[in-house]
Amino acid sequence: MINNAIPLRIAGVGYSVPKTVITNEDLTKLYDTSDVWIYSRTGIKERRIVSGNEGAFELGVEAAKKALSKSGIKSEDIEMIIVATSAPSQLYPAMGCRIQAALEIPNNIPAFDITAACSGLIYALSIARGYIASGMYKNILIVATDNNSKLLDWSDRTCSILFGDGAGAMVVTASDDGVDDIISIDIKSDGSIGDIIQLNLTGKNCPLVEPNEEQPLFIKMNGKEVYRFVARVLPEYVEKLIADAGMKAEDIDYLIPHQANLRIIQAVQERLGYSDEKVITNIKYYGNTSAASIPLAMVEGVENGKVKLGSTAILTGFGAGMTWGGCIVRLREGIC
Ligand code: COA
Repeated sequence: MINNAIPLRIAGVGYSVPKTVITNEDLTKLYDTSDVWIYSRTGIKERRIVSGNEGAFELGVEAAKKALSKSGIKSEDIEMIIVATSAPSQLYPAMGCRIQAALEIPNNIPAFDITAACSGLIYALSIARGYIASGMYKNILIVATDNNSKLLDWSDRTCSILFGDGAGAMVVTASDDGVDDIISIDIKSDGSIGDIIQLNLTGKNCPLVEPNEEQPLFIKMNGKEVYRFVARVLPEYVEKLIADAGMKAEDIDYLIPHQANLRIIQAVQERLGYSDEKVITNIKYYGNTSAASIPLAMVEGVENGKVKLGSTAILTGFGAGMTWGGCIVRLREGIC
C-alpha cells in the first residue's frame, strides 16, 4: 500500500436473485442426469435463473439499490461505478453506464465494466481500494452481476448444471474513523491456462476476406482441469494471504468463498482448519453465480444468522482467465 493511504469503509452490501428456481430434478427434462450425480459432485440442489426480459442489468440495479440504501450514501454522492460482469447483454454501453443512468447517479463520473469472471468482485474491490487510498475518489459503487444461464449450452450436462444467475453490490467509501475494512487484498491471474474456461465472441469477418472460424456464444469449460487447478492453487494461496497479513487462520471469523463447487470450498476449509460454522456456503440453493456469489453468500449469511456482523472474514474467488484473488475484510454492523 502507498504511504498515507486513505482507509476504506465498506458501507453497504446487497444482492438480488431471480425468482425462478430450477432444481436438479428439472434438469432431467433436458438431459440424462440425476439429483444424486449433481449434488454429490458439486453440492448444488437448485439454482435461480432469469426468465423473460430479466437479465444481469436488472439484477445489478436491484442489488445496487439495496447496497446504497444500507450504506446511507445517496446515489448523487457516488463518484465512480465499477461493474464486474462477464455476461452483459450489451458490450457497450458498459453496464456501469447503464446503471449510472438507471440510478440517476451524476452524469459526469467514471463508470466502467471489468471482466475477471468469478473473481470480479475481488478485482473490483481492489481497484476501488486503490482509488480511495489515493484520495482520487471517496464513494464508489461496485456491482457484480452475471446471468450465465443465457450463455450456457443447455445440452452440455457437465457445464450447465453448475451455474445460476444473481447480482451483488457494495458501496465503499473513505473511512472517517481511521479504520480500514480491507485488512489485506490481493489479485492474481495466469493467462497461460486461459483456455480451460472460455466464452468466445468470434464475430464474423468482412465478406470480402477469407471467412473466419465461428464459434457459438456458449461457455466452454474443461471442468476437470478447472477443478485440478483450483484445488492445487487455492488452499495454499489463502493460507499465504493470511500469513502475509501477519494473521493466523484462527484470527478470522469466517471464510466466505466463491461458490463454485462444495468440494473446492471444503479443500480450503480443511487447509484453514475451520469448523462448518465458520464457512459460509449457499451453493446448494444458487449454484455458481460467478462474480455475484461472494456478496450473495455474505448478505444471505447475515440474513439467516450464520454471519454475525462486527466480525472479520476472508473472501476468496477464482474464475476464467484464470483469475483468482482474496481479501480479508472487516464486516461492520449495519452494512447489510
Ligand atoms: N449427469 C450425469 N453424468 C454426467 C454429468 C451429469 N450432469 N456430467 C457429466 N457426466 C458424466 C460424464 O459423461 C462422464 O461419463 P463417462 O465416464 O461415461 O464418460 C462422467 O460423468 C464423468 O465426467 P467428468 O466430466 O469427468 O466429471 P467430473 O467428475 O470432472 O465432474 C464437474 C464434472 C463439472 C462437476 C467437475 O469437473 C467440477 O466441478 N469442475 C470444476 C468446475 C468449476 O468450478 N467451474 C467454475 C469455475 S469458476
